[in-house]
Amino acid sequence: MKIIRSIKEMSNFSQMMHIKGKTIGFVPTMGALHEGHLTLIRQVHKENDIVVVSIFVNPIQFGPKWLWLKEAKPRSSGLEDYRRYPRNLKLDAQLCEKAGADVIFCPEAQQMYPGSYKTYVNVSDLSDCLCGKFRPGHFKGVATVATKLFNIVNPDIAYFGQKDAQQAIIVKKTVGDLNIPVQIKVMPTIREKDGLAMSSRNAYLNKEERQDATVLYQALILAKNLIREGNINASDIIRKMRQLINKKKRAQIQYILIVDLKDLKPVDKIRDKVLVALSVWIGKTRLIDNIIT
Ligand code: PAJ
Repeated sequence: MKIIRSIKEMSNFSQMMHIKGKTIGFVPTMGALHEGHLTLIRQVHKENDIVVVSIFVNPIQFGPKWLWLKEAKPRSSGLEDYRRYPRNLKLDAQLCEKAGADVIFCPEAQQMYPGSYKTYVNVSDLSDCLCGKFRPGHFKGVATVATKLFNIVNPDIAYFGQKDAQQAIIVKKTVGDLNIPVQIKVMPTIREKDGLAMSSRNAYLNKEERQDATVLYQALILAKNLIREGNINASDIIRKMRQLINKKKRAQIQYILIVDLKDLKPVDKIRDKVLVALSVWIGKTRLIDNIIT
């Protein structure tokens, strides 16, 4: 497995592989890899000749600290912050290699965003709702880095997790609107045995918080069952989900929304498939999860 730090070298490598007729599958990550990431990488290995994993903690998708203070429950000590994001390239590299990666692309932030940097990709409307409402600028940072990474790595297929449903929808919109020649595949959310979606942030939970965190998935399953039983009133379903989550004393809801899969607008009466998405603080940790039902 190769570790590539230079943008030029990454571009050249991809060009060479394309000349040789190889397909490139790509998994963009910020490192701190867990089973959710590794399942994606294994899948890419099955479906492509070459597997590229990027490990880049993207500074422009982390809001300034004061923006986080606008959240439903400001907790200064729990603010996720660019500098605090866990980094362990050595361990991540071992895990990537075992999962079948051929290349890790890990550029320096200075190389991706030199002092003269000016260009940003903003997907309007889709970036301002759900998580975007509480993290202004976050999805602009994601769409920008995704565009840059696609241009550098030039993959045939890029893989994203359903866990970050809004991100996947925004990235799909970006490549469609900007005619970037890459196919986006969205893979199912990988969960712990008790249903908790795997996330780098789960490591911040203490034992009691970890137990309470299962309520996110339980609330989603409740919604799924209610919809299956014929309930079509989104507000009734959300109310019942709130009641369930509020039973956990360490949980504080940031949002629960039932939205249309394409435009992410809230749905009043459920007649088609919808995205049920939620963001909940468990202690000082903000967790998100969703299902399509
Ligand atoms: P990161 O949080 O490292 O996630 C990288 C990819 O792994 C994303 O597509 C995410 O949806 C997926 N993923 C995370 N947890 C998962 C789980 N439990 N099951 C399935 N997939 C999971 O998302 C980012 O990085 C960044 O925003 C990035 C796209 C790299 C841009 O900087």
